[in-house]
Amino acid sequence: MNNIIPQEYNVTQNCRGTIKGHRPLVIWFSGLSGSGKSTLANLVEKDLHKKGIHTYSLDGDNIRGGLNSNLGFSEADRTENLRRIAEVSKLFIDSGTLIIAAFISPLKTDRELIKKIIGKENFIGIFVNTSIEECERRDVKGLYKKARAGEIKDFTGINAPYEKPFDFDVVINTEETGLEESVNKIVNYIQPKLRLN
Ligand code: PPS
Repeated sequence: MNNIIPQEYNVTQNCRGTIKGHRPLVIWFSGLSGSGKSTLANLVEKDLHKKGIHTYSLDGDNIRGGLNSNLGFSEADRTENLRRIAEVSKLFIDSGTLIIAAFISPLKTDRELIKKIIGKENFIGIFVNTSIEECERRDVKGLYKKARAGEIKDFTGINAPYEKPFDFDVVINTEETGLEESVNKIVNYIQPKLRLN
C-alpha cells in the first residue's frame, strides 16, 4: 500500500461496542448448496435480533447480486468472492455489528484467508454438515439436476470440491437434528462470547 496512510479515528470499535452493549462477531456458515445454511442463518439472526443484538446478514442475494456481480464460480472467482466478503465483514466488525454470513466457502485455504482477514478472535464457524446425497435429494433450486445434466460447470459437490471444515466451532447435522434444536445450539454457543470485557 504505497502512500496510503491510515486515518486515526476518535470513535473506535470499543466506543461503538459500548453503545451497542455487546461484542461484534462474524458467525460464518459453510455448507453445500441446499444444506440449509441460509435457513439456519436466518433463524439465528431472528433470535439474536430479538435478544437486542445488532445484526446484519451477508449472503448470495446481497453480495453476488451487487458487490460481487462480476464473479462466477471458478476457484479464483470464489476466492475473490470470499476475500471481499471477509473484508466487508471486517468493516462491520469495526462498526460494532454482529455479522451472519452464509456462503458455501468450499476450500480450506479460502476459509483460512477469511479467518485471517476477520481475525480469529472475531470469527465463529458453523459447519452445516448435510450430505451431498441429502442436498441432491432436496434439490430446492433444481441446481443439482442441472449440474448432473452438464448445464452448470464447477458445481460444488458434483464437479467442484467441498472440503469439510473440521476445525469449525459448531457442527450441525441437519439430517439428525431439528431446526429449533440446531438454532438453540448455535445461539447458546454464541451468547457467552457477546459479553463486553
Ligand atoms: S462460494 O463457493 O462460497 O463462493 O459460493 P456462494 O457465494 O455461497 O454462492 C453459492 C450460491 O450460488 C448458486 N450457484 C452455485 N453454487 C455452487 N456452485 C455453482 N457452480 C453455482 N452456481 C450457482 C447456488 O444457488 C448457491 O446458493 P446456496 O444458497 O448455497 O444454495
